[in-house]
Amino acid sequence: MSFEEQLNRIADEAEKAFSSATDGASLVNAEKRFLGRKGSLTVLIKQLPGIPTADRSRLGAIANTKKQTLESLARKQQQKFASTQSVRRFDPTIPGKPARRGHIHPLTQTIRRIVEIFRTMGFEIVEGPEVELEKYNFDLLNIPADHPARDLQDTFYIAGGEKRVLRTHTSPVQLRAMETRRPPVRLIVPGRVYRHEATDASHESALFQCEGLVIDRGIKLTDLFGTIAAFLKTLFGADVHTRAQASYFPFVEPGAEIAMRCLICRGKGCSVCKKTGWLEMMGCGMVHPTVLRNMKIDPKHFSGFAFGMGIDRLMMLKYGIPDVRLSQSGDPRFLKQF
Ligand code: DAH
Repeated sequence: MSFEEQLNRIADEAEKAFSSATDGASLVNAEKRFLGRKGSLTVLIKQLPGIPTADRSRLGAIANTKKQTLESLARKQQQKFASTQSVRRFDPTIPGKPARRGHIHPLTQTIRRIVEIFRTMGFEIVEGPEVELEKYNFDLLNIPADHPARDLQDTFYIAGGEKRVLRTHTSPVQLRAMETRRPPVRLIVPGRVYRHEATDASHESALFQCEGLVIDRGIKLTDLFGTIAAFLKTLFGADVHTRAQASYFPFVEPGAEIAMRCLICRGKGCSVCKKTGWLEMMGCGMVHPTVLRNMKIDPKHFSGFAFGMGIDRLMMLKYGIPDVRLSQSGDPRFLKQF
């Protein structure tokens, strides 16, 4: 077979192989077979120097043209595969993967709900420092130096010159708020407080409270009870029953504790209400005249009520969470349920 015949045959075969390649892999294979370093066309072209001079340049020109034609065919096929493959890779009809979304911690959800309810009732939202001067945390709230709440067991003291503590309740913000306000005031203070005590299913050393303070002319105990009942009914639903019991807190007089009929057993007695049928919800009372005076408010003309509730407790009841420690664990298995 002459050089020219061989050339034509190889070129025909190569063209067929390139055109009939069905994917990138079979094309690469065919290219290697004909145009590769040991490919049949490459091997044939290497024989050109042995061809008699008379035919060499003509045959060389034909061989080069054929080679270029085949190379451009291969490139064209390659592009076709590349584009059909990428079309296959992006199928717009396949449903997207749902994005993993974070969500709001049940405690934050509870705080937001509480804030929303009180805001609707016309309350202002105020915040205060978590590292607090003893003066605000205790003295100005009429908590004397020998009061058991000052016991080292309950309070985290901060080392250093001025007497500072991690606030043990949100009540100090009552005093801070009244440094820049005059009655009438209606405000709530949501925030974190700290207790130096052993943790168990219902006690954490860092917990959340919401303080409330209302001061105006002619504020009465019934205003307090009405406000709290309205709040609890909005939060937990119409089937809420509340009762008040006399209690003692140094910063109020009279002081009371408000309980709500147990939501779980409806008053029959269960483990959540410790068989009493009632759940203690918050401390409250009429602002003590001494505290009013510490706020530079004349108790002859103004009166007020205050309340303080544990938000963790409200959250546990609202979402049926059996152990506070779960709430601050940060465990996604817990968090993703809410
Ligand atoms: N500060 C109290 C506590 O942490 C709760 C409290 C009781 C707040 C009575 C009040 C109140 O404003 O009037 O236990």
